[in-house]
Amino acid sequence: MKKVFVKSSSNLALIKYWGVLPDNIFGLRNHPTKSSISLTTDSLITITNLSIDKREPNQPLIERFILNGKTFKEDSKEYKNILIYLEKISNFYPSVLNYTYYIESKNNFPTAAGLASSASGFSALAVAIANTVPEIKQDLDNLGEMGERKLTILARQLSGSACRSIPKAGGLVIWYRGFTIEQFMNKNIDENSSYAESIIPASELKDIKIVLPLVKVDEKPIDSRTGMKRSVETSYLYWYWVEYEENVLLPRLIDRIKVRDYNNVWEIVIRASDGLHSIMLNSYPKIVYMNDVSHSIADSILELNSKFKENIAAYSFDAGPNPLIFTTDKYLDKVLDLVENMGHKYIISGVGEGAKIIDQEQIE
Ligand code: ADP
Ligand code: DP6
Repeated sequence: MKKVFVKSSSNLALIKYWGVLPDNIFGLRNHPTKSSISLTTDSLITITNLSIDKREPNQPLIERFILNGKTFKEDSKEYKNILIYLEKISNFYPSVLNYTYYIESKNNFPTAAGLASSASGFSALAVAIANTVPEIKQDLDNLGEMGERKLTILARQLSGSACRSIPKAGGLVIWYRGFTIEQFMNKNIDENSSYAESIIPASELKDIKIVLPLVKVDEKPIDSRTGMKRSVETSYLYWYWVEYEENVLLPRLIDRIKVRDYNNVWEIVIRASDGLHSIMLNSYPKIVYMNDVSHSIADSILELNSKFKENIAAYSFDAGPNPLIFTTDKYLDKVLDLVENMGHKYIISGVGEGAKIIDQEQIE
């Protein structure tokens, strides 16, 4: 039996991923329509313990899956997600199906609450599988430095955003779509062109803080995979948005963050969030994740910025009502005052590193 412990952190997007190329036209797997950029967190953490054993005839592929102390059976969506991943990975490495998997995982933050537990959870699993299945481990080891890139390509097969939690240096991570508009028109896109890498390591972004007010989460009106498919298929603003972000917002964000021009960085982050939610609203039928509390927090951040005559913080929303508030150490207390005055509990995170193998003793 082979056994491994992996620690991974969730990542939060500054420039969002929302859609993959239709696989029936492009014949590609989970290939994003646009590049996205995220910060790997240092406080929203998953620890996954994976053991694999030779699979006997008639033995299930997943022998056990425990998440946060609860066992998930074959009929649950949580179990099926992992089964689908193993099947997808077997297209790259057929020997994946020769083993049976015992998975036990814990998130130290709320699961399925809009804080990207799927990114930390699935990236941890991808790293665990890659380090236990000998065929994958050998291939990635042979690739040397390019092994990490390949691992991000594998991780995005399970959940797109998970690939951004893989790069070890963490910090500011980009997930490239890896095609030009000409290649898109000619349907000439290489599957391996879409991968993630760190562009500013966590160690250089220690001044950034992320405040996560915990807004009550009801059942999601639509899961993100189904929602993004609807946007790609029905929003008539979709490709305009994709190309604008790809060519204007994303390069500008990288340029401004490199010189720590947070006044402009935070404006870009706010615009990218509002852009995503405009595309959701422009889908048919419309997709709405933000609620009144989300909007009131967004408005308060705008007021705070206008009071300071400078953008001292940015709000951002994913596929849920929970705000992500980005700021720097210098203004953290102002943001906390605002959130506390509005009566919300919150989590604070810094910027951290990507997924890694740990010893059992390192688990607190
Ligand atoms: P979130 O906003 O937390 O990402 P989602 O509904 O998108 O919410 O994803 C939550 C799902 O991700 C869970 O229902 C489960 O299937 C999966 N997941 C979360 N954490 C883990 C984990 N540690 N290991 C395996 N799967 C996980
Ligand atoms: C709004 O990575 O959860 O959070 O690839 O279908 O698993 P799948 O989607 P997922 O989508 C995340 C979308 C987002 C924006 C982002 O994180 O970039």
